[in-house]
Amino acid sequence: MSTTSEWPLELVVADTDPLTAEISSLKLKAADGGPLPAFSGGAHIKFRVDLTDGAKDPVTLPGALRTPTRGERCYSLVNSDDQSGYYEIAVKREAAGAGGSRFMHALRTGEHVRAALPTNDFPLHDEPHEAVLMAGGIGITPILSMAKELSAKGAPYRLHYAARSPETMAYRTGISHLRGEQASLYFDYGDPARGMPLAEVIGQPAPNRHLYVCGPRPLIDAVVATARAQQWSAGHVHFELFGAPTPQAGNRPCRVVLQRSGLTLDVPAEKSILDAMIDAGLDPMFDCRRGECSVCAVRVLSGTPEHHDYALSDDDRDHEHLMCVCVSRAREGELVLDA
Ligand code: FES
Repeated sequence: MSTTSEWPLELVVADTDPLTAEISSLKLKAADGGPLPAFSGGAHIKFRVDLTDGAKDPVTLPGALRTPTRGERCYSLVNSDDQSGYYEIAVKREAAGAGGSRFMHALRTGEHVRAALPTNDFPLHDEPHEAVLMAGGIGITPILSMAKELSAKGAPYRLHYAARSPETMAYRTGISHLRGEQASLYFDYGDPARGMPLAEVIGQPAPNRHLYVCGPRPLIDAVVATARAQQWSAGHVHFELFGAPTPQAGNRPCRVVLQRSGLTLDVPAEKSILDAMIDAGLDPMFDCRRGECSVCAVRVLSGTPEHHDYALSDDDRDHEHLMCVCVSRAREGELVLDA
């Protein structure tokens, strides 16, 4: 059961604003009128949501009789910490989703919602540097916060932002003052060939250049692959995938032999090897579950893995024979793991 210690922030909706047909922004303040915990560019907040359509959380409507179906959703903060006194998020309404975005869109000014403290898994690099900021669609939210933080510091950056059309681009007018030297907008109108010219945008690596990208998985994959091809080191390429980890399209069932544990697992297509290990009673190490941290990496003793992570280097894969079991699978046949 959720407790207030899990959800220490009680926030009140101060304002809502439809940015596009599908995306709305919400400004949230502390319900008690006090100051809010600080955050940095790239941070997000986890909200407690009601996944039961059409009904409100009892926090928002005291006296409601029905017990809601709880869930949680993370949204990046769009404003910067010097814009103190409120948090701003932008939520894309996912009509076919489980209900979290519909719950957030249904919130009205004056309603309350519970949230966790801000956390940042996608921070700006500490040292002074030149930042290349790249965003696709709703992935603009943490990138915009980073741009505001860099602007406030007078630090050099350039923002590249892609969407299907001007009408679907959130914050388009709000960043118009960045146009010219600092921001470029791209519209593909449904044709990927008309999208962001990645090789040109990413450019050449340099010790003081860092790349930050947020958006849907195809954009992240393409940016990471292009940066790698242009000899960027992994430590200079920072990204955040939007959305919960989901099974990769085309995943197949696989058999995994865990040599040290003496277990053989038949892993269905919709389940990760990591989850199969946990279900079998093991206690593997993991963190992000999205192939970004390498905490779950294990050594492959035989078999051919199909890597889906972003964390391991070629050396990790080819010479250390590591694979991230939260996202990677067997290319074919059976894998024997040192686990
Ligand atoms: S848990 Fe982070 S890469 Fe697997």
